[in-house]
Parts: sequence; structure tokens; C-alpha cells
Amino acid sequence: GSGKFFVGGNWKCNGTKDSISKLLSDLNSAKLEPDVDVVVAPPFVYIDQVKSSITDRIEISAQNSWVGKGGAFTGEISVEQLKDLGCKWVILGHSERRHVIGEKDEFIGKKAAYALSEGLGVIACIGELLEEREAGKTFDVCFQQLKAYADAVPSWDNIVIAYEPVWAIGTGKVASPEQAQEVHVALRDWLKNNVSAEVASKTRIIYGGSVNGGNSAELAKKEDIDGFLVGGASLKGPEFATIVNSVT
Ligand code: G3H
Repeated sequence: GSGKFFVGGNWKCNGTKDSISKLLSDLNSAKLEPDVDVVVAPPFVYIDQVKSSITDRIEISAQNSWVGKGGAFTGEISVEQLKDLGCKWVILGHSERRHVIGEKDEFIGKKAAYALSEGLGVIACIGELLEEREAGKTFDVCFQQLKAYADAVPSWDNIVIAYEPVWAIGTGKVASPEQAQEVHVALRDWLKNNVSAEVASKTRIIYGGSVNGGNSAELAKKEDIDGFLVGGASLKGPEFATIVNSVT
């Protein structure tokens, strides 16, 4: 693997003040392996609540950010505001934003570049649809999405790549450790050939898509799986801790 194991919990559009308060107390009392970067991504409106109650052991990510400096952009949230609330990371290019909201590669690349320029870390998501996998286009699709980030960002120092096959997200159909490993190796190879050998060896590539407390340990054994981006199972404190602690 490359660097420190990284586990992010993407809460998506879930939770209430009460349910989040319960989740925070579970997370704060969980025993977490020390050698893992642990990040949670609450909905924007709860970031302040999370920041004021969560242990410093866990960093906070947003689930999206505006593409540039704030201003007259109704309904958007700026990188500056996220930093003001104590966020260290932002998830960009998530499949739900690509395929439900319609965000395009170039726009996502610009968002990544802006967030990095302001000092936020970027969890840069990519991944193929089922029909793309079945058509043998998995690598093409992932490389194209990766290239959009590469074309836009000046440095990879503060980027974690999240490979999330869309067919595995929220479906209970987790990629096999071999399927995930195969793509992670291809992504690392792409970075080596198109960015640099150093970036290829240093950049963490995490897997997302139906990761849970029962399958994370097997996935974590794979050489090129450097952590996870967890959706549903991150809403349960003890299970999320199990996933964090699956570091090998
Ligand atoms: O960002 C997280 C992924 O979309 C995975 O979601 O664990 O609910 O499948 P999931």
C-alpha cells in the first residue's frame, strides 16, 4: 500500500441533529487503530455540530464544494466557508453528483484545483457504471475521469483517489478484493505513465462501494487498497470503527 491507511465515512444526505449526536458519541468512544487517517463527511448543515462535538482524532470532510470563490451563487457552499467550519477535506466527483446531478469531468477537475489551492484535501472519486464494466470499458472510463483531475491539479500531494464502481454503491454488491485490486493497480500504472512514478507510489487509492464490517478485512489485505470510502456502514459508529480497524 501507499502511505497511511485512510477511511472516510460519507454520510450522504442522511441524519438529524439527534441521530448525529448519537453517532458522534459512538465515534468518540470507539477504539480506533492509531495508524489510520479517519475522516467523516456530514451533510453541510451538520458540519458545525459535528466539529464542536467530535474528537480531534477524526477529521471532517464536506461532500461537495463550489468551484471557485464564494459570492452570488445561490445554494452553493464555498471552500472558504468549509475551512471556516474546520473542514480539512472535500469529496469531489462522487458518482451521485456525476450521475444524479450531472456534474462533468472538467467541472469536477476545476473544483478539485480550487479546493487544493485553498488548502483543502480532496477525496477524488471515480468509477464505472455497470454497463461500462460489462462493455469492457472500466479502465477507459476510470482513466478518463482520472485524467480530468490530472489535467486540472497542480499537485497530487493532498489528493486521495476513491475508486467507487457505481454498481457497487449502495447495492450490497461489493467488488471482490481481486476486482478492486485490479483497478487500483491500473490506476497506479496510469499515474506512473501520465503523472510521475513518485505520485503513483505515494498517492493513496481507496475503495468504496458496499464496504461493511464483514468485508473490509479481506479487501484491506490487497496491496493496492489503501483504505475505504464508506457510505451506509459509516452511519453506524461501531461498524465504522470495525472498518477503520481493518488496517493490516
Ligand atoms: O461514498 C461512499 C460510496 O458511495 C459507498 O456507499 O457504502 O453505501 O455503498 P455505500
